[in-house]
Amino acid sequence: MSAPEKLYEGKAKILYSTDDPDILLSCFKDDATAFNAQKRGVITDKGRMNCAIATHLFQKLAAMGIPTHFIDQPAPNQMRVKAVKIIPLEVVVRNIAAGSLSQQTGLALGTPLPQPMVEFYYKNDALGDPLLTRDRLFLLNLATPDQVEQLQTLALRINQILIAFFHQCQITLVDFKLEFGLDAQEQILLADEISPDTCRLWNQLEADPEQRVMDKDRFRRDLGNVESAYQQVMERVLAQAV
Ligand code: TMP
Repeated sequence: MSAPEKLYEGKAKILYSTDDPDILLSCFKDDATAFNAQKRGVITDKGRMNCAIATHLFQKLAAMGIPTHFIDQPAPNQMRVKAVKIIPLEVVVRNIAAGSLSQQTGLALGTPLPQPMVEFYYKNDALGDPLLTRDRLFLLNLATPDQVEQLQTLALRINQILIAFFHQCQITLVDFKLEFGLDAQEQILLADEISPDTCRLWNQLEADPEQRVMDKDRFRRDLGNVESAYQQVMERVLAQAV
C-alpha cells in the first residue's frame, strides 16, 4: 500500500491519491471562501455536512441516470470518486434571478425566469472565473461543440431532478453551479460537489428574504446562523429517499 499523496488542494476540498490510479479521495474542508477568496472563514462542521449532502444528491442523480464521479463515502467528510480530468468550466443553472445575474442585469432578486438558463464561466481563479461567450469558450478550446451540447443537456436534466428533490424538502432551488470531468474513456461525468456552498437554496417555510436563505449567501452576506442553515439543509435532504 502506497501512502496517499495530496494531489490538489482547493478552497473547499483536498484530493488525495489512492492505491487505485482510477480512484481519488476527496476530503471536504470546513474552510469557506467567497468573492474569489477575498473573504475567508470557517463554517464549523461544513466538511461533514456538505459531504453528506453531496453524497445523497449524487446517489439520487445516479439513480436517475446521471453519470457522476461518486463511488462511496468512507468517512463523514470523505468521498471516494472516479479520477477525472476536470473540464475548466463552471456550469451555472438559474431558475430565479439572484447573485451576479441580478447585479449585472438589474433583474430584481427573486424574479422567476421564464425558463431555466445555463451559463458557462471560465474556471480560472487568476482571471476571477469570468462569464464566457460561446465564441470565447471555443476560442480557448475549453470544450468541443459536442461537449457543450452534452453539458447543457445534462445541466438542464440535473436541474429538473434537483428542483423536484429540493421541493420535497420544502426548499426552492434558485440557482447552482456544476463542474464536470472526463474519465479515461472521455465520457463526461458530473464531478466536484453539490451543496449549500454551490447552490442558492431558499426555505419555503420562511417568507422573509433574509431568513429564507439556507446557503453560502449567509456567509457571503454576513447574515449569521450559517451552520444551522447548512444543518437544516442536511437534515431535510437526508430525510428524503435516494
Ligand atoms: P453567481 O450568482 O454569483 O454567479 O452564482 C451562481 C451560483 O453559482 C450560485 O448558486 C453560487 C454558485 N457559485 C459557486 O458555486 N462558486 C462560485 O465561485 C460562484 C461565483 C458561484
